Amino acid sequence: MLAFLIPVLTLTVGLVDARATDSPTCAPLVPAKMDNATVDGLLGHWVYIMGASQYPPHMAEMKELKYATYTLFPGRHEDEFNVTEIMRLNETCVVRNTSKIHVFRHNSTLVHEEGKELSMAELIHSDKDLFILKHLKDNHVGLSLSARTSKVTKEQLEEFEAQLRCHGFKQEEIFITSPKDACPAAGEEMGEGSTATAEPQQG
Ligand SMILES: *[C@@H]1O[C@H](CO)[C@@H](O)[C@H](O)[C@H]1NC(C)=O
Ligand SMILES: *[C@@H]1O[C@H](CO)[C@@H](O)[C@H](O)[C@H]1NC(C)=O
Ligand SMILES: *[C@@H]1O[C@H](CO)[C@@H](O)[C@H](O)[C@H]1NC(C)=O
Ligand SMILES: *[C@@H]1O[C@H](CO)[C@@H](O)[C@H](O)[C@H]1NC(C)=O
Ligand SMILES: *[C@@H]1O[C@H](CO)[C@@H](O)[C@H](O)[C@H]1NC(C)=O
Repeated sequence: MLAFLIPVLTLTVGLVDARATDSPTCAPLVPAKMDNATVDGLLGHWVYIMGASQYPPHMAEMKELKYATYTLFPGRHEDEFNVTEIMRLNETCVVRNTSKIHVFRHNSTLVHEEGKELSMAELIHSDKDLFILKHLKDNHVGLSLSARTSKVTKEQLEEFEAQLRCHGFKQEEIFITSPKDACPAAGEEMGEGSTATAEPQQG
């Protein structure tokens, strides 16, 4: 999605877990239990809301990512999803429909495959509304929050931001998307791999 979602999936940070034990309010980043209900529950449309990283290359990507939505479809095999991603990078909307997500149930890992580029994340939490990933790259860890719609509640946002701070992310390492930067619904002018500039949707 952004990298997972694309750039997003490639996020990362360093040694967050070590610091995580400092605060009693810090919910541990425990991988989700992966049963059929969990895996099937990932299908469908998601809006990438925000993420955090302390790894400069990924911070740069997240800074460019103004808005992103993605849809998971059943893929060719069990525990494989086809993914369609629509992102605004800087001013430009980009559509990708060639990436896949492979689910490894035994270790709660999702691997996003876009061409030869692989990015890995652990599923920390998913329910009917929210989808939280811990992105892993070398020794870096990142966290991201997606939701079924861009209208997450203030409480949901505050809870996730509190978690990010609790796990050692500073404000400048946290990147939030905005619905004002949404891309127009996928249409004629935005085919595979193509780009189109478009005015942000109102509302
Ligand atoms: C999970 O789904 C698979 C494939 O759809 C099915 O074969 C299996 O029986 C299901 N497992 C459970 C515990 O329902
Ligand atoms: C998923 O992608 C593969 C190509 O990688 C394609 O053959 C298949 O039809 C796609 N499945 C769906 C449901 O779109
Ligand atoms: C986005 O803008 C930044 C700063 O202007 C630039 O360095 C970067 O290459 C741009 N990225 C894309 C994907 O256009
Ligand atoms: C989970 O398992 C897969 C396949 O065995 C492996 O490629 C991946 O690195 C594992 N994930 C983590 C976080 O260790
Ligand atoms: C990706 O989009 C292109 C252009 O809209 C379409 O021709 C192609 O079939 C799509 N591929 C998949 C795997 O959905």
